[in-house]
Amino acid sequence: MQVLDKVRSPQLEKLHQGKVRDSFRLDDGTRLIVVTDRISAFDLKLETPIAGKGEVLNRLAAFWFDSTRDIVENHLVEVLTEQSSIVREAIPIRVEMVVRGYMAGSMTRAYAAGKREISGVKLPEGLRENEKLPEPIVTPTTKEESDREITPAGLVEEGLVDAALYAQMEKVARALFARGSEVLASKGLLLCDTKYEMGLVDGRLVLIDEIHTPDSSRIWDAKRHAASPKDAPPLDKEHVRTYMLGVREKTGKFPLALPDDVLDETRARYTDLFRRVTENEPSRALDPAARLVEALVAKGRMLPGFVAVVGDRDAAFVRRVRDAVERLGARAFVLSPEDTLAQANAGAYVGNLEPGAVLVGAGSEGLVDELLAKTDLPVLSASGSAAKSALSAVRALNARALKPGVAAAAHVSDDARSTKETP
Ligand SMILES: Nc1ncnc2c1ncn2[C@@H]1O[C@H](COP(=O)(O)OP(=O)(O)O)[C@@H](O)[C@H]1O
Ligand SMILES: [Mg+2]
Repeated sequence: MQVLDKVRSPQLEKLHQGKVRDSFRLDDGTRLIVVTDRISAFDLKLETPIAGKGEVLNRLAAFWFDSTRDIVENHLVEVLTEQSSIVREAIPIRVEMVVRGYMAGSMTRAYAAGKREISGVKLPEGLRENEKLPEPIVTPTTKEESDREITPAGLVEEGLVDAALYAQMEKVARALFARGSEVLASKGLLLCDTKYEMGLVDGRLVLIDEIHTPDSSRIWDAKRHAASPKDAPPLDKEHVRTYMLGVREKTGKFPLALPDDVLDETRARYTDLFRRVTENEPSRALDPAARLVEALVAKGRMLPGFVAVVGDRDAAFVRRVRDAVERLGARAFVLSPEDTLAQANAGAYVGNLEPGAVLVGAGSEGLVDELLAKTDLPVLSASGSAAKSALSAVRALNARALKPGVAAAAHVSDDARSTKETP
């Protein structure tokens, strides 16, 4: 099973790269959201992805979008692959609606330090770790680089929402939390706390992003919690946070990578939760990137491969190559030598979803070595007729199975350096 931790294609326009999701423009007010296997905690993006995590998040969110549709409209149009969805584009409201039914996480840490008010909500004395609050509380934060605790009045004052909209958001958040708690209870699980993001579509309030996933929620096994609240093993990211806090205690800094045992344990907890909530098995697609390409091709949103043709777009030969490539079913981009190098330097030709190749036209042969070093693509020189050059390039797309990729590129660049150094 391969990880999908970065999503790049010269055929897709990236709108946003979040800590976990990458969003691309489709059209008619829709976007493609790919839920990668990246993991973040304490607003830090970690270097160690977790294979299969994106599927758990994407499909769990879809489960909950479907089972809360009667409470509020949501952005989901279609689950495209296990790790991606087509959604309606909303104007996001820069607020995270946090709802808490229990005392946990950052709230416990703050409470222990003497804090008795959070986002304007007063907390009674005597609350204990992981115990149920007298009633669920809504403690919004701003949605920024680093989320900031704020009162509802503060949100209105800062112009993030108006009072009527906030009232509606709070009502929706409470209803979603009640539904989530009820559905999870029927599966022996307990919704401790969660956050919702909302946006506007044509002026209507719409639930966006994700809902009741282990990234956005704390979820416990109800029996284990009943037996001993503070020992309830969290079926979510809390495990990762605990590890990170432990490291910070020892070294003064949060780690950016998780060791294998923490990764495995987190994967197991996410998968366990997915099974218990959806009563489905994860698909464990071998190559999620290839599945995504296949689905986008089927929808007519992408061609299965691309050829970057380096040359003058007005030259008759280059135009014939471009047309021949497209007749063979691949996407052709014509780029000047300068633009090709700029793209290659920016990393645009490493790690793309779909196979690609670079076809260097007459007069630019000097670029071949550099392009081999800076891309993970086959680089060919045009020779013979335009049709034959196009055919060679498109055949090279089919040779991707070997995927020597960046390792080979690094090797080439070493060679290039040593050649230069030898007088
Ligand atoms: N339907 C939508 N329309 C517009 N923006 C959305 C929609 N759904 C989610 N988003 C935004 O896309 C981003 C998802 O990426 P994510 O990795 O969760 O980002 P973050 O690092 O902000 O948590 C979030 O900023 C979220 O607010
Ligand atoms: Mg997010």
